[in-house]
Amino acid sequence: MERDMRAASAPPGESPAVAGPPPRVRVVGVSKTYPTPDGGSARVIENVDLTLAEGEFLAIVGPSGCGKSTLLRLISGLVPVSDGRIVVAGEEVIAPPPRVGFMFQRDTLLPWASVSANIAVALELNGTPAAERPARIAALLKLLGLERYADYRPSALSGGMRQRAALGRLLAYGPELYLMDEPFGALDAMTKMILGRELLRIWSQDAKSVVFVTHDIEEAVGLSDRVVVMEGPPGRIKSEYRIDLPRPRDFREVRLLPEFRDVCERIWRDIGRHAEAE
Ligand SMILES: Nc1ncnc2c1ncn2[C@@H]1O[C@H](COP(=O)(O)OP(=O)(O)OP(=O)(O)O)[C@@H](O)[C@H]1O
Ligand SMILES: [Mg+2]
Repeated sequence: MERDMRAASAPPGESPAVAGPPPRVRVVGVSKTYPTPDGGSARVIENVDLTLAEGEFLAIVGPSGCGKSTLLRLISGLVPVSDGRIVVAGEEVIAPPPRVGFMFQRDTLLPWASVSANIAVALELNGTPAAERPARIAALLKLLGLERYADYRPSALSGGMRQRAALGRLLAYGPELYLMDEPFGALDAMTKMILGRELLRIWSQDAKSVVFVTHDIEEAVGLSDRVVVMEGPPGRIKSEYRIDLPRPRDFREVRLLPEFRDVCERIWRDIGRHAEAE
């Protein structure tokens, strides 16, 4: 698909109507209510509409507690909606749909298994023949700078290493839909740059659909086709920005473009206004 040909204007929460495959994700009028410790209930997501086109890279930004992780969990089918519906690949989500990979804000590596074994599980799950697994694991460990830690268990890794291992597992699984919750949160600037660049390279080859939650506006703009700004609680979509920066894109060099600075600034002002109004 020619990414740059996508229409520049679309109604809020909607992808442009392009001829081609149906959307990967449709979130329609979704709300989520949780019980509170005092016996009451709290609305944490309110009436969210969102469409993710096939092959689209969507970033979600917004202040802490506005419901970003909750929205991602609802899409993943791990948590049921209170109202509305979510459709992934044409099927209503009532349980985790197949071929969806989730990378949590806190890593969920198997604590008793080494880094290699954690990645091997994902390869087994996606049906990679056993004979091909060692080479694939070695390639991923190299990509993520974890070669020396292949036999370490998660408890013996730093936070950033655990996050890299979790990313390795996600890439090994190779889902059709990537749901990523602040995957670069615990990484130093240099590793973030290397992995951001790598994620874009992998994405441009495979054209998988991605929902990427981050609180880092530059990261969101550098990676995505569209940035959705959330506000809350209760979590709602405040605004969205189509990112028309050229593809293929270099995650670092794109930052030098005036259009990059311009859209980051607009999003900052948007979120800043929200924060000032609190
Ligand atoms: N399992 C739960 N039970 C009750 N309330 C919850 C639950 N999970 C999330 N919440 C509430 O939902 C709101 C949104 O939380 P969420 O984790 O989605 O925010 P977030 O935007 O991801 O924040 P952050 O940027 O800090 O990760 C919060 O008020 C939180 O207390
Ligand atoms: Mg979160």
